[in-house]
Amino acid sequence: MTAPTSAIESLLSRNSLAGSFMQAPAPNDEQLRQILGAAQRAADHDRLRPWRFQIVRPEQYEVFYDRLAEAATRVQGDPSRYERNRDKYRLTARAPLLVVAAAKIDTTAKVAPIEQAFAAAGATQLVLNAAHALGFSAFLFSGAGVFDVPFKASLGLDATDHLIGFICLGTANGPGKPGPSAEAAVREGLEETVKQWAP
Ligand SMILES: Cc1cc2nc3c(=O)[nH]c(=O)nc-3n(C[C@H](O)[C@H](O)[C@H](O)COP(=O)(O)O)c2cc1C
Repeated sequence: MTAPTSAIESLLSRNSLAGSFMQAPAPNDEQLRQILGAAQRAADHDRLRPWRFQIVRPEQYEVFYDRLAEAATRVQGDPSRYERNRDKYRLTARAPLLVVAAAKIDTTAKVAPIEQAFAAAGATQLVLNAAHALGFSAFLFSGAGVFDVPFKASLGLDATDHLIGFICLGTANGPGKPGPSAEAAVREGLEETVKQWAP
């Protein structure tokens, strides 16, 4: 994908691409700094910076995805699902970079926990947008594992924090699954979600 030429074109044209359709190159260190730097400009009540990101490199995928599959299986409460869960991540592992996105909630702050979670979700969206602006593909996925307290603890997160999901980053190796175009999503989304307020 070539990088969009204007900020507004970039915002209007972002699309997800599953990790299974990605290949190298991943963003280099400077590009990753820009992508995660964009997240630092999320709207943030009281400047709490409730977002957290952790970078997972391909050489760490085997262990990381083992743990994530274990976490999902624990939440599902059915040990027979482990292999199916693990298999799901084998295709995702084609993405040349993975970023864990989380919300670290300060339960002593006067800003409500849900507002902190909103800010962290906004920061996560900025990662997707910044990746697209630089010409990379991105995909945010979650799954049952995000709710597993021991897995969250292994990432330094408390039970009151939120694991938002996992962002695959890389370069498109093709068009991906057919789906609505960004243009159609914008058009239909405007119809469905925006109206003039009336008292
Ligand atoms: C918090 C969050 C978690 C998500 N988890 C998944 C997931 O586990 N699997 C999935 O297929 N899509 C998931 N999605 C949706 C995709 O990231 C993506 O937005 C969706 O496929 C629509 O594509 P688009 O972004 O191109 O419109 C999630 C989105 C959000 C906001």
